[in-house]
Amino acid sequence: MQIQPGFPVTRMRRLRKNAGLRNMFRETSLAKEDFIYPLFIVEGNGIKREISSMPGQFQMSVDNILRECDELLSLGIGSILLFGIPEMKDAVGSGAYDENGIIQKALRAIKNDFPEMMVITDVCLCEYTSHGHCGVVENEYVQNDKTLELLAKEALSHAQNGADMIAPSDMMDGRVKAIRQILDLNGFGETPIMAYSAKFASAFYGPFREAAESAPQFGDRKSYQMDYGNSDEALREIALDIQEGADIVMVKPALSYLDLIRRTKDNFNIPVAAYNVSGEYSMIKAASERGWIDGEKVMMEVLTSIKRAGADVIITYFAKDAAKVI
Ligand code: PBG
Repeated sequence: MQIQPGFPVTRMRRLRKNAGLRNMFRETSLAKEDFIYPLFIVEGNGIKREISSMPGQFQMSVDNILRECDELLSLGIGSILLFGIPEMKDAVGSGAYDENGIIQKALRAIKNDFPEMMVITDVCLCEYTSHGHCGVVENEYVQNDKTLELLAKEALSHAQNGADMIAPSDMMDGRVKAIRQILDLNGFGETPIMAYSAKFASAFYGPFREAAESAPQFGDRKSYQMDYGNSDEALREIALDIQEGADIVMVKPALSYLDLIRRTKDNFNIPVAAYNVSGEYSMIKAASERGWIDGEKVMMEVLTSIKRAGADVIITYFAKDAAKVI
């Protein structure tokens, strides 16, 4: 009898036949260590306000943030990304680098109670400026180099108050270098920088701007965040951030940018983070609430796709839900 090449010798369904085989040969699996959980911190006491456009996510005062940290650790989530919402905003975002700013207070409290928690801080000015832009505004334009000084001050203040890692999200040119220098000069040479390197001007950030109260009061962020039509430019941004000293580079958002996560992974030997942003979370929650999709299954599929694309870590509002499934 003649053996034919191809069908039926190769039957792709053989390894899909039962759960045991499927689990054994699954290439990509999620682990709790893959996740970073974002938290929104407000002034006050006893506050836990649900963000209406992000069901299951809250603005919390520091006391409730501490309870949240306890729960996260017991779920196996060991790293968080902090966003601060100050009581007062001004043109230069003073609350961002104030020793008694909301993030500074939260850092001291968290590191005091949970030293093992890996605390990453988002470094940006938009939550702290009255105009809602990520930098110093003059003539309705965000001024790059004047902003660098403030970002560096903010990053140093976070490190001094206990941040384990600094994550600049502003998209100013040269900010990784400015932050690396000020950290090194002040004895924080071993504090890593996770740079939001390829961050796009995206409509998927809509719910976040409600959560962080950081919507720009005029115009948009297109003169500093990237145009979503571009991918070579994203690789140049990433190469520059690596040159300037980034330890981890980020692609953001994640789902519409899986191609870039893969290109980044293939082009650079450096850890890659992906930010599964607010709109990506809220879309799934909303469709699931309507019974249109199975939210839990879609969540696992989406998170797995981000990891399969090449992400080493995923910043996601689903961290707790996914940890419960895992
Ligand atoms: C601050 C910042 C934003 C996000 C993270 N850091 C918003 C923005 O750039 O407007 C978005 C996160 C999300 O949508 O989940 N610059």
